[in-house]
Amino acid sequence: MGILIQLHSFIRWILLVLLLTAIIKSLSGMMSKKAYAPSDNKISLFLMISAHTQLLVGLVLYFISPKVMFTADTMKNNVSRFFTMEHSVMMIIAIALITIGRISSKKAATDEAKFKKSFWFFFIALLVIFAAIPWPFMQVAKDAAIGWF
Ligand code: HEM
Repeated sequence: MGILIQLHSFIRWILLVLLLTAIIKSLSGMMSKKAYAPSDNKISLFLMISAHTQLLVGLVLYFISPKVMFTADTMKNNVSRFFTMEHSVMMIIAIALITIGRISSKKAATDEAKFKKSFWFFFIALLVIFAAIPWPFMQVAKDAAIGWF
């Protein structure tokens, strides 16, 4: 299980870099009315692949992690509440936003609309992901001894 946690923790950084790149590119495309380039499509494709890979690893962890419990005490314990409910539900929402962002941007008629759709969906997904990562300065990460990598 250790290797899966390490992989899950590592993919977080790839996902964050791709998400930030996609957001900055969409914003700059929106502002300067650029053409939607093949590189914009590639970034959003890699972003969706890494998000879905993270979802897959997360789902496996959900079934094997001792931090996920379904007992009467689940909600009373900081760590089990976070991983059983908060982290998993918020991350699934964020991955859905990334997916909808890519699909609706692909379907948009104009380049400006493509950038606009990707920007807003990816930006909101970033906020959700940021809030749901167990960052080492959060109490839940301290309680579960979770670091940066
Ligand atoms: C954007 C998506 C996601 C990100 C960035 C993310 C990030 C993380 C990070 C940084 C950790 C701590 C790893 C460590 O101990 O070093 C973690 C743990 C965990 N994640 Fe996620 N996660 C995501 C999606 C999901 C999803 C969708 C699920 C389940 C449906 C999930 C389930 C879990 C579980 C169960 C753990 C605890 C594993 C353990 O320590 O036993 N994650 N996640």
